[in-house]
Amino acid sequence: MNQNKKNMTENTQQGFIPAKSEALKALFNLGLNRHIINHVLAVSRKATYIATLISSRTIDLRLVKIGALLHDIGRSKTHELDHAIVGGQIIREELNWSDKLARIAETHILGGLSKEEALKIGLPPKDYLPKTIEEKIVCLSDKYFIGSNEVSIEGRFENWFNRYGQTELLLTAKKRVEQLETEIYRLMYL
Ligand SMILES: [Fe+2]
Repeated sequence: MNQNKKNMTENTQQGFIPAKSEALKALFNLGLNRHIINHVLAVSRKATYIATLISSRTIDLRLVKIGALLHDIGRSKTHELDHAIVGGQIIREELNWSDKLARIAETHILGGLSKEEALKIGLPPKDYLPKTIEEKIVCLSDKYFIGSNEVSIEGRFENWFNRYGQTELLLTAKKRVEQLETEIYRLMYL
């Protein structure tokens, strides 16, 4: 099988993951502003760094790096919580890229959302909790930033609490993200 055919087969079977330049081009073409581009670049650097410190698991580094770059692609259409779902749609239906990338976008908001939580806030009822190691790393890495300023999980949630109050949704999310941080730290350092 020649290389092109082989690549095409792999893309069809496993989904296409673009190069960094192609992913960034898509973000610019969709009109994402510099503030968000700087944010996703910072999240992608952090996520890739975390992934390189984990040796006990097989991690698709390219999926982490590009998934982090694309996690907020839905903000080209909405800044509401549904930007995660819209992002998944853009990746799957408009760009025709990997379903794994779409799942990373869908599972990045807060600490992910359960089917019940999604239903409660008017999102299509589906489980949006991060499950794979790549989804978990991107979801956690996103929480370390307000824009492109690095913060602690505490700091990230303080900012949300100040804006929206200590809602049930945010309090559950904080617990979930803290658990996620512990799980990832164990993999990184123990
Ligand atoms: Fe983000």
